[in-house]
Amino acid sequence: MGMNIAFFDAKDYDIPAFERYGKENGISFKFYETKLDADTTELARGFDGVCVFVNDTVSAPVIDKLYGMGVKYIALRCAGYNNVDLKHCFQKLHVVRVPAYSPYAVAEHTMAMLLTSVRRIHKAYNRTREFNFSLNGLTGFDLHGKTVGVVGTGKIGSIFIDICKGFGMNILAYDKFPRQDADFPYVSLDEIFERSDIISLHLPLFEDTYHLIDREALKKLKKGVIILNTSRGALIDSEALLEGIKQRIIGAACLDVYEEESELFFEDFSGHIIADDTLARLLSMPNVIVTSHQAFLTEEALSNIAETTVENLTELRDGKVCRNELCYDCGNMEECKKKRKERCF
Ligand code: NAI
Repeated sequence: MGMNIAFFDAKDYDIPAFERYGKENGISFKFYETKLDADTTELARGFDGVCVFVNDTVSAPVIDKLYGMGVKYIALRCAGYNNVDLKHCFQKLHVVRVPAYSPYAVAEHTMAMLLTSVRRIHKAYNRTREFNFSLNGLTGFDLHGKTVGVVGTGKIGSIFIDICKGFGMNILAYDKFPRQDADFPYVSLDEIFERSDIISLHLPLFEDTYHLIDREALKKLKKGVIILNTSRGALIDSEALLEGIKQRIIGAACLDVYEEESELFFEDFSGHIIADDTLARLLSMPNVIVTSHQAFLTEEALSNIAETTVENLTELRDGKVCRNELCYDCGNMEECKKKRKERCF
C-alpha cells in the first residue's frame, strides 16, 4: 500500500536519503522548502501525513486544519518535540519521532565547539588565512583537570561525559532522572552552577526547563564559566546570557541553538539586516561561537533519520504499534494504551 507525505522545510541534504528509503518502502515524499505553519498547512491537503523538523509550527490551529483535511500522521524527523502541541494531537493525529539518530554527532559537535572556543581555533583560522602568524590573544587553557557540569545525562549527555573523561576532565552531573549505572557523581543544579568551569546542556525543552539558565542562575555561576548549548535555545534566557557575558561572569558561550532561531537558522541571511539585536550582539562578542543547529548534521545521522522516519511511517501505515509514537501522557494507568504497549489511540 502506498503512502504520500508532505515534507516541510526540506533542504538539499535531506532529500537523497528520504527518497532512497521512501522508494524502498512505497512512501513518496513531496518536498516543500517552506516550513509548516498556519499559512502553509493547505499544502498538506491530499497527503496521508506530514514530515516536519525542529522549526516547523505544529500548533493547535495547524493540527485542527490537518485533521480536518484528513491528514493522519505527523512524522518528526528529529528527537525534540517542543514545537508540537502533543495534547492537542491526542485522538486526532498520530505523532512519531526519531528519538536517536546519532547521539555521537551532537556530543562530538559539542566538544568541537568547546575546543574551538578554548583554543581560539576560529581566531587562528582567520588569522593564518591572512598570513597573520602572530599568537597574541590566542592563549587558551587545558581542559584536563577542569570541571564540566553536564545537565541531562541521557543519550547525548552520557556520550559527552565519556568524551570529557577522555580529556581527563572532572565530571559533575545533574538529571531529574539520574542513571542508576552512572560512574560519575550527581549533584544539585545549584552545585553544577557553583562548581563547574564548563556547563553543557543536554536536556529537552519542557516547561520546567525553560530558561534553566536565567538571571537568577547568573548569581550562582563560577566566574569565567563556559556555557555550551547544543540542545534547545530556550533552555537559556538569551538576554541573561548577554548580561552575564558583559559582566564577565560568563567567559564564553558556544551555542548550536538559539531561542529565537526559527526565523533565522538553516537559511542564508548574509547581506540582510538582522532585526534580532540580542543575536547580533552575541555574534559580535569575541567569546561567543554560534553554529546554526548543525550538531546533528553528519552522513550517519541523515541516513538514520530517514531510515527511522520511513520505518515509523511504514508501521503506522501497516497498522502496527510504532515504538517511536509519542502520546499525550494521559496519566491514566488503567486506560493508557501506550503503557500496555499498544497504539496511543
Ligand atoms: P535523552 O532523552 O536521551 O536525554 C535527555 C535527558 O534529560 C534524560 O536523561 C532526562 O532524564 C533529562 N531530563 C528531562 N527533564 C529534565 C529536567 N527537568 N531536568 C534535568 N534533566 C532532565 O535525549 P538526548 O537524545 O540526549 O537529547 C538531548 C537534547 O538534545 C534533546 O532534547 C534535543 O533537544 C537536543 N538535540 C539537539 C540536536 C542538535 O542538532 N543540536 C540534535 C538532537 C537532539
